Amino acid sequence: MLATSDITINKVERSKLQDLNLENLPFGKFFSDHMLEADYENGEWKNVEIKPYQPLLLSPSVAALHYGQAIFEGIKAYKDREGNSYIFRPQDNFRRFNISAERMQMPEVPEEIFMEGMKQLVALDKNWIPQTEDHSLYIRPFMFSSDEVIGVKPSESYKFMILLSPTGPYYNTPMRIYVEEQYVRAVPGGIGYAKAAGNYGASMYATAQAKKKGYDQVLWTDAFEHKYVQEIGTMNVIFIIGDKAVTPDLGAGTILAGVTRDSALTLLKEAGFTIEERPISVDELIDAYKAGVLYEVFGTGTAATITMIKELRYKDFVMNFNVDQWKTAPTIKKWLTDIREGKREDKYGWMTKI
Ligand code: COI
Repeated sequence: MLATSDITINKVERSKLQDLNLENLPFGKFFSDHMLEADYENGEWKNVEIKPYQPLLLSPSVAALHYGQAIFEGIKAYKDREGNSYIFRPQDNFRRFNISAERMQMPEVPEEIFMEGMKQLVALDKNWIPQTEDHSLYIRPFMFSSDEVIGVKPSESYKFMILLSPTGPYYNTPMRIYVEEQYVRAVPGGIGYAKAAGNYGASMYATAQAKKKGYDQVLWTDAFEHKYVQEIGTMNVIFIIGDKAVTPDLGAGTILAGVTRDSALTLLKEAGFTIEERPISVDELIDAYKAGVLYEVFGTGTAATITMIKELRYKDFVMNFNVDQWKTAPTIKKWLTDIREGKREDKYGWMTKI
């Protein structure tokens, strides 16, 4: 078993931070001074190192490039008003990472590397945590198979890495969403619940088709009847119907168990909503819209935080929402932001101090 002291640290000679203004940042384009890298070989993790951010030297036969045995996570670090650094619910992402690893037949990453490595890396690059509104330090742990062989089989070697990206909002404005009936994201028995790289690659064609029609993203539906809704693009989805907050349940294994989804549901409960996690059909949404009780629709995600949906289109039926009048999504977003910035009590213990 690795000890915390087994993480080697090699620091940069000159920080790149002096060349970057941590305001108005795009999502995921800039990376901090350091990264973490670890290797899995002969059944054990080794060479755990925090070192200057740099390119990898890889053989073109590396298995992940051919068969996509690759998973990742998205986590965010914030600073409070006093300048203390925190990571939001990292333990939940750590747990989910190893659930993804199991599904993709990859080795478990131990807590000493994932959690301790992440904390040490964020502590080292804490000056990269932006303090501007809607900004944060996005943490990207990932793992890929690294055998140099093109036979289809689980690798014997893997690389685990963590990158840090000071980042602005993922989506800037309320979105227009197309209810997808042709392409699918996930099926029961598939990998929909895993944060596998291939899930994102596979979503791009359908998203591009929706964009050609003038939409920002798709709302995925089930593979068999295209009747029940799943997720929106890279986000979970929550509907405010009457006094209920309703979201697809995780039961069928087709939905990513979002940490922001769980946080939003917790806060919605605190706000007095009845929470329902269950199958939701497009027909139910249309009926609720026609009855005037489908009040709000929003996406939740680490990158996206809370993103309002201003239009939902199903076949020729268009549901429009006056997002400027909404109370719930903006309140939940504010509460989340306030907890992250230390302005609201962290009563659920979501913030891990660095
Ligand atoms: C996240 O919300 O962290 C995601 O993984 C979404 C996306 C940037 C891939």
